[in-house]
Amino acid sequence: MKRYTYIANWKMNSDYNTSMRYIEQLVPFLKQAEQRIILCPSFLALAQTYASLAPTRALLGAQTCSAFAKGSYTGQIDAQSLKQAGCSFCLVGHSERRTYCHETIEDTVQQAKQLLQASITPILCIGETAEQRSASQTFSILEAQLTPLLNVYEDSCAELIVAYEPVWAIGTGTIPSRSQLDEALAWIKEHIKKQRNKADNTTILYGGSIGDANAASCLESPFLDGLLIGNASLDFQKFKNIVSLNC
Ligand code: 13P
Repeated sequence: MKRYTYIANWKMNSDYNTSMRYIEQLVPFLKQAEQRIILCPSFLALAQTYASLAPTRALLGAQTCSAFAKGSYTGQIDAQSLKQAGCSFCLVGHSERRTYCHETIEDTVQQAKQLLQASITPILCIGETAEQRSASQTFSILEAQLTPLLNVYEDSCAELIVAYEPVWAIGTGTIPSRSQLDEALAWIKEHIKKQRNKADNTTILYGGSIGDANAASCLESPFLDGLLIGNASLDFQKFKNIVSLNC
């Protein structure tokens, strides 16, 4: 049976104490979960989450990192510190970072470089807005976001994780139709194959308004290797239902 990847992006939706209580609730479930599960709490909760996850096979991810290795960048967190806090993964280019923090494509490239140098696997988030989709720009946007990121990998054997997160689906309750999803995921797979020209260890995820009512239909896509879950990952029953779907 296919082993899926489920990433929980808690964003800033859970304060430190709430996150700690939630992890206590999650640990017994995580201990027996067969799928690959990656939790992405806020920066402050990383180290304690890592300690709590010790009896489980779940892994830790950060939500972003600095584009710089070190220096006078007040408030930023470097990739090396994330590694030391126990992170194996880190999101790059989440649309909320691109929108609210004005992160550019060049910023995402520098972040991915820092992460690879620190032996952290980047989770490359790409996706178009509703306006871009209706202007038939979906694939040119995906290409503009993905191509420079793939260049960072050069000869690296790091796992290539790409999350297709259409901006219009995040937090809206709307998900792409099956044909929209398949079309975008197939494009991403093909683009990676063309650009990398070698058999990569590739994981393709979908994220945006995933809940326990629609996860199963998304997972039917033959192009999908897992899900990047926002809100529903903070609801124990919903998260458990999603992760248990293909057990
Ligand atoms: P929602 O599942 O809350 O729509 O968020 C998706 C997301 O942005 C995951 O990174």
